Amino acid sequence: MGSKVSVIGAGFYGSTTAMRLAEYNIFETVVLTDIVEGKPEGLALDMNQSRSIEGFETKIVGATTTADGAGYEATANSDVVVITAGLPRKPGMSRMDLIGVNAGIVRGVAENIAKHSPNAVIIVVSNPLDEMTALAQLATGFPRHRVMGQAGMLDTARFTNFVAEKLGVPVGSVNTLTLGSHGDTMVPVPSRCTVNGAPLTDKLSAAEIDELVTRTRNGGAEVVALLKTGSAYYAPSAAAARMAKAVIEDSGEVMPVCAWVDGEYGISGVYLGVEAQIGRTGIKKVVETDLSATELAELKVAAEAVRTKQADVQSL
Ligand code: LAC
Repeated sequence: MGSKVSVIGAGFYGSTTAMRLAEYNIFETVVLTDIVEGKPEGLALDMNQSRSIEGFETKIVGATTTADGAGYEATANSDVVVITAGLPRKPGMSRMDLIGVNAGIVRGVAENIAKHSPNAVIIVVSNPLDEMTALAQLATGFPRHRVMGQAGMLDTARFTNFVAEKLGVPVGSVNTLTLGSHGDTMVPVPSRCTVNGAPLTDKLSAAEIDELVTRTRNGGAEVVALLKTGSAYYAPSAAAARMAKAVIEDSGEVMPVCAWVDGEYGISGVYLGVEAQIGRTGIKKVVETDLSATELAELKVAAEAVRTKQADVQSL
């Protein structure tokens, strides 16, 4: 107890993340903010009223914020901040189509966080993910290990779900891994995928794996197309909440996340989806895994693709 996490943005992604974090019952306070007046306060009231039923003591605080930074006092001295602010995709849009509008939103949020919670670890989930993570680091000026993005946990969870459904096995028996970007240059790592400890390649043909990889790469768009308004939030919030939990518990868990890469895999100077050890200081270290020549080549392609876009956000 005693710790505080703030979730910026009370849309479905943010509010679901706040609820999950509160239900863990490991934080003293979960703060939920939004620019829509009354929405975060109303959601917080509702969430608090679920406490006696679900059996958790964490207090949820809602705060409306304004463009000039009013309202951010409620987030002061947060240990962890999850940034969900920004627009979601509409059907047919790519995550990259959001870069202009979301850059302005994320920059403003990041500046206010830096002001009120100078020691926080930041988890970015706004899209396009890799670019918004890079921008949040620039706008806060925080050390790079204290700013990370959520994508790999989600993409991996989608891949795992598709494999489990295809083979008719429990999700718990499946391990998968995706690296690279949260977008077109997502890099599945079949050499690290197993079912009950056996290589995935023993269970499915290359063509079948390819099909599941393609569905994973388009996993967010598939949900957006069905929902018609808004994007996925149950699996995304599960991933973001687990990362915040790993930070506050200083668990040292290794998770696929968007982290600053500085020499690993022969790649430097870019935020990229890799496996990393997560703890109280944020990214404790990027963990390199053995990749096949093809997988490594794909990761390098992903790094160059996001590097170009991350350079663009400096001026947005
Ligand atoms: C998705 C969005 C949240 O992949 O990026 O569903």
